[in-house]
Amino acid sequence: MSKHISDKTVRNHSQNKPFSEVLEISLSRRAMMRGGLAAALATMSSFGLAGCDSSSTGGHTPANDGGTTPNPDPEPPASVKLGFESLPTSMTDGCVVPQGYIAHVLAPWGTPINDNALPWDQNGNNSSNDLLNSMGMHHDGMHFFPLEGSSTEGLLAVNHEYIDEKALHPKGPTVVNGKRPAEEVRKEINAHGVAIIHIRRTNGRWDIVQNSRYNRRFTSATAMKLAGPVGGTDWTKTPFSPNGTQVRGTNNNCGNGTTPWGTYITAEENWAACFVNTGTRPAHQQRVGVSAGPTGRYLWETAAQDPSEVLGEFTRFNVTETGASATEDWRNEVNGFGYLVEIDPYDPSSIATKRTSMGRFAHEGCAYSKPEAGIPLAFYSGDDSRFEYVYRFVSAANWDPKDAERTDRLAVGAKYLDKGTLYVARFNEDGSGEWLALTGSTAGKNGRTLADEFGSLDAILINTRGAADFVGATPMDRPEWTATHPSNGDIYLTLTNNTSRNASTGTNAANPRLNNVNGHIIRWHDEPGSNKFKWDIFVFGSDSGADADTNRSGLTDLNQLASPDGLGFDSRGILWIQTDNGIDGGRKNNVARATNDQMLAVIPGSLADSSGTGPAINANNQADLRRFFVGPNEAEITGFSMTPDHTSLFLNIQHPVNWPAYDTHDATVVSMNTVRPRSSTVVIQRADGKPIAV
Ligand code: FEO
Ligand code: CA
Ligand code: CA
Ligand code: CA
Repeated sequence: MSKHISDKTVRNHSQNKPFSEVLEISLSRRAMMRGGLAAALATMSSFGLAGCDSSSTGGHTPANDGGTTPNPDPEPPASVKLGFESLPTSMTDGCVVPQGYIAHVLAPWGTPINDNALPWDQNGNNSSNDLLNSMGMHHDGMHFFPLEGSSTEGLLAVNHEYIDEKALHPKGPTVVNGKRPAEEVRKEINAHGVAIIHIRRTNGRWDIVQNSRYNRRFTSATAMKLAGPVGGTDWTKTPFSPNGTQVRGTNNNCGNGTTPWGTYITAEENWAACFVNTGTRPAHQQRVGVSAGPTGRYLWETAAQDPSEVLGEFTRFNVTETGASATEDWRNEVNGFGYLVEIDPYDPSSIATKRTSMGRFAHEGCAYSKPEAGIPLAFYSGDDSRFEYVYRFVSAANWDPKDAERTDRLAVGAKYLDKGTLYVARFNEDGSGEWLALTGSTAGKNGRTLADEFGSLDAILINTRGAADFVGATPMDRPEWTATHPSNGDIYLTLTNNTSRNASTGTNAANPRLNNVNGHIIRWHDEPGSNKFKWDIFVFGSDSGADADTNRSGLTDLNQLASPDGLGFDSRGILWIQTDNGIDGGRKNNVARATNDQMLAVIPGSLADSSGTGPAINANNQADLRRFFVGPNEAEITGFSMTPDHTSLFLNIQHPVNWPAYDTHDATVVSMNTVRPRSSTVVIQRADGKPIAV
């Protein structure tokens, strides 16, 4: 997240009802859930296996199997059980792993990926060119793509979400007469984006293969394609791309997704405030939070007119209308941001492509539905801001397992991701839900349709949030990552927290707690071939000492958690939950006072009734939720991937304050000195080399 950059302003003023009058309904539903889990379970279980046609295969090639995406195996083997003891809480300024495990630092910020960069300088003196050829800052979403199915060699795609300007520059950011120096701005732009690195395990240690042809950086200045309904329209024409088919850069890349055909998806989250409009902001800019001025978040636009500026590389962050047309100012630059961006990690010459059909908002990540031959694929993405929504994109094309074997992967991406329908979720009080299509014919307020209100599909997509308001979607407690259960196809979503949910906003059944400082995880199952689903809440974050109304899942010292964020299933059916609980830059809940951010594991399947989806976590089964990892002070744990054989687990430590120690690769070591902190990937393995967690 982004304790520094997350958007705390409530921008959803739609007043979509689940408000106070609904509170009573939600309270009675809660009583039902508590008193009658069996009844709730019966509702869920009739859907549990609905999507589980074992005759179809997900069919992705071994080369594409990162071991963390839904696979076609019908059920996780019954023998899968968590084989580690839950860790106690920790406030140690180093990583903590269970006994018998080791944790190494891999590819921290500033690590060169080729010989065009100087080594990282601990005084902050690296140049913008160094950053262009090194790991960026603030690692976030991530995926391991094996080479030839290997579990010892592959490509790691890593998001670089945002920057800590104090750590990036020798003495923090410089502003002279209101202007940022061009070199500093370029360095910041190059510290954002995505890294693809070729990594290999030798003698038990993972390292970057320097100068590999696969190693590349995408930054907030790299040219990318705009595909789908918004690309090539009047919305996206700029002096850089007069026909509107390209834009420079991807920004504030938070969570991630993958596809069944072996590509990476990076999610643009808190990009809006990097742009400033000091004129009249249109509704769609207000709705996403484009800065009203006087400056953008990083003041990048203030380097405008520097003699070295190339094609408005700084000026473009000021989207105020000043020229006679869209190709004479940068009014449309911001319309090129806010998307899911597809990258082919296996093809170093490929161009990253923004899939505009999947909506424009603060995308957190993107999980795909369990692939079934002959039916469309669905992709789920949360919009991480208070009272925002969760979305589903359904491809127009039916899934053909042969497409998993193709090597023209971005063409496959165009087939499934450029044409389809975007939906937004409405969660009903009775545990049912509905996907509302964001297409012209959908009815919204005052008897009008989306087409009446917004016009054509490109206009609807540009203002995705506004369209979702209009059709009456359910405002959620900050939707973060989604994950798909590999065998039963249930979708899990983290709702990280929402301290703005109060008596005047009220609650709704899917977001039932006022002042939700702890967050929760919701899950649902789509009815095949329909826009309906069934949902329940899987776990409520809480400290162990909270009263029963807060600690609804009966968590103890060994699994208390708050602000769930990163989320992933491995192919064995283990669900991994990561936390980002440095909320509001302070420690405003008891979990934060008890432990650093953490990663926990649970096997929902092991809780399951044989007919399908298992019960939510409750006082009787909570011990199955175990703490596997605790990070260093003030750092968020985010990004999750595993090798296909499950012997190496990758996660990211984001925004630590005094970690990692400089003189060791051991991630568990606490530094004895004050160090310039470096976000980093950590690789966890068992000392005996066996599969993790079981
Ligand atoms: Fe970048 Fe929503 O966390
Ligand atoms: Ca983050
Ligand atoms: Ca996040
Ligand atoms: Ca977060």
